[in-house]
Amino acid sequence: MIRCALLRGQPDLDPASFLSPSEAGLIGPRAVPKRRDDFHRGRWIAKKLLMARFPGTGMLDHVITPDERGVPIAHDALLRPRPVSLSITHTAGFAGAAVVDAPGQVGIDAEVMIAEPSAIARDYFTEQEQALATGDPMAATIIWSSKEAIAKALGEGLRLSLQSVRVVAIGEAAADGWREVSVEGGLGVWAWVGGCVVAVAGAERPEWERKLGTGD
Ligand SMILES: CC(C)(COP(=O)(O)OP(=O)(O)OC[C@H]1O[C@@H](n2cnc3c(N)ncnc32)[C@H](O)[C@@H]1OP(=O)(O)O)[C@@H](O)C(=O)NCCC(=O)NCCS
Repeated sequence: MIRCALLRGQPDLDPASFLSPSEAGLIGPRAVPKRRDDFHRGRWIAKKLLMARFPGTGMLDHVITPDERGVPIAHDALLRPRPVSLSITHTAGFAGAAVVDAPGQVGIDAEVMIAEPSAIARDYFTEQEQALATGDPMAATIIWSSKEAIAKALGEGLRLSLQSVRVVAIGEAAADGWREVSVEGGLGVWAWVGGCVVAVAGAERPEWERKLGTGD
């Protein structure tokens, strides 16, 4: 099961209550406040998700460090890797995370609606994607977010050519809010459209562990 979670807003977070000293050190003293807030909110919501996956654990029983590509890797407090794959995202006002049992793959990306998608579409979309997105900023945002989610699930991020991830169709919204996004080859993508678009790439339909609550 792919579990995912989305946090809205800026809860009053005391980093010492959920980050080990080594994790806190990952964000340098010169990081701009927005980057610091994003890092904190992303780690906070990811650890809430790990606590749900590993009942009986607390925030400080999880240590998340990036591998050499930037992929967030979940460990226990003794720095032994957890048997899960993890993905983290942050965008204006939101932070999200997704986790799946290894050897599964998962990537999550959240985007507020792209108001003027033409430059992104020109540079990163295939002709078919441009046709899907023309005059439809929501479709453009879903396509962009889906590509990023796949790039993260593959561990490549923007090193991957986003032209090589080809969205061919966006389904209708289902009762649970997810819309299936068809991508040529590769993993499935599901997009949930709320105050922001959330795309999750993986082998199965994701389930919400927490959605849009502020911190508690
Ligand atoms: C991964 C990437 C696509 C995310 O970009 P974004 O959509 O702007 O940012 P998001 O908030 O959605 O995601 C950021 C999170 O992605 C994760 N991430 C970073 N690199 C990743 C990778 N190679 N694979 C999977 N996840 C990655 C991290 O958890 C990061 O958050 P954190 O640093 O707080 O832990 C982008 O940062 C990237 O490609 N980074 C690696 C390559 C790089 O550094 N290129 C330089 C610019 S081209």
